[in-house]
Amino acid sequence: MIRYSRVIGTGGYLPEEIRTNEEISKTVDTSDSWIYERTGIKSRRIAGPNESAASMAEIAARQAIEAADCDPETIDLIIVATGTPDHVYPSTGCLLQQRLGIKNAAAFDVQAACSGSIFALNIADQYIKSGAAKKVLIVGTEVCSRIVDWTDRGTCILFGDGAGAILLGASEQAGVLSTHIHSDGEFKDLLYCPNPQAATDTNKSELGFISMRGNEVFKVAVNTLGRIVDETLEANKMNKSDIDWLVPHQANIRIIMATAKKLKMSMNQVVVTLENQGNTSSASVLLAFNEAIRDGRIKRGQVVLLEAFGAGFTWGSALIKY
Ligand code: ACO
Repeated sequence: MIRYSRVIGTGGYLPEEIRTNEEISKTVDTSDSWIYERTGIKSRRIAGPNESAASMAEIAARQAIEAADCDPETIDLIIVATGTPDHVYPSTGCLLQQRLGIKNAAAFDVQAACSGSIFALNIADQYIKSGAAKKVLIVGTEVCSRIVDWTDRGTCILFGDGAGAILLGASEQAGVLSTHIHSDGEFKDLLYCPNPQAATDTNKSELGFISMRGNEVFKVAVNTLGRIVDETLEANKMNKSDIDWLVPHQANIRIIMATAKKLKMSMNQVVVTLENQGNTSSASVLLAFNEAIRDGRIKRGQVVLLEAFGAGFTWGSALIKY
């Protein structure tokens, strides 16, 4: 008997506050038209002063658990992907576990920047396929607004806050078909966010904000995502036409369009949320997946390709029969 992990519930949460391009244009030298043309972003959500990665994760997770009609006590593993944890430790996974009141689960965080949710899916899938876990809760949650330098027009226009969740359960029916993850630390200086408290003397003066050489990141992202698409199709002996939906990481509409073109997919088959959410890092793919499931675009039995690229660099994909 082949054992698969299958998506049994999804959830998502976006904070209330909307920050538009016009508002950002009042504080840095940019414009709505520049931002929209270069990125596809119009506005992003900003977490309230009392919200955090853990508090947003809780709302998204509860939705996923409810959608799956699942007793939380049957969840045996919680994996949270975040680059903006509430604490260095305990992990946001443990904070989420406490909030959900789940006793019999192990919980931990993965840190793979914007690819975090794909890395979490990869880990969860191995646990379920091997029989080590039956139900795994995966959450990507970020308060990017708190690690963004709001005086840096090259980065502050891009990011937003939010949380997305998936509950995976063991099944004999096909679900997650394959996952692929990669990283290359050689690119560590193109996109990073320092941790001043743990820095060496040489790096202590750096503030804890995102630093990015956007144009260079852009070029590597386009090429790398093209390769991961080929790798995923090849591993599953599938053709481009077998994919019903592309759910990409929401970094830049031009990167998304390049991947869709590579797949010969119409933009009608691509889930795009960045216009009103920006880049929510590890939450973005899960938020987009949840949105398209809830509004009825993605239907049971369809084949969905999830992909992401982020700091590290890290990149990965998951091919899912929903
Ligand atoms: N408004 C106006 N002008 C701007 C802005 C702005 N917000 N930002 C940059 N510019 C200027 C630059 O200063 C530059 O001016 P110059 O020509 O006088 O030097 C010009 O616009 C072009 O700058 P580029 O950086 O070449 O612009 P580009 O078209 O590459 O767009 C962007 C920049 C949007 C950041 C793009 O490079 C991008 O999206 N990069 C990839 C982001 C990404 O994928 N990140 C990975 C995931 S994130 C994660 O893992 C945490």
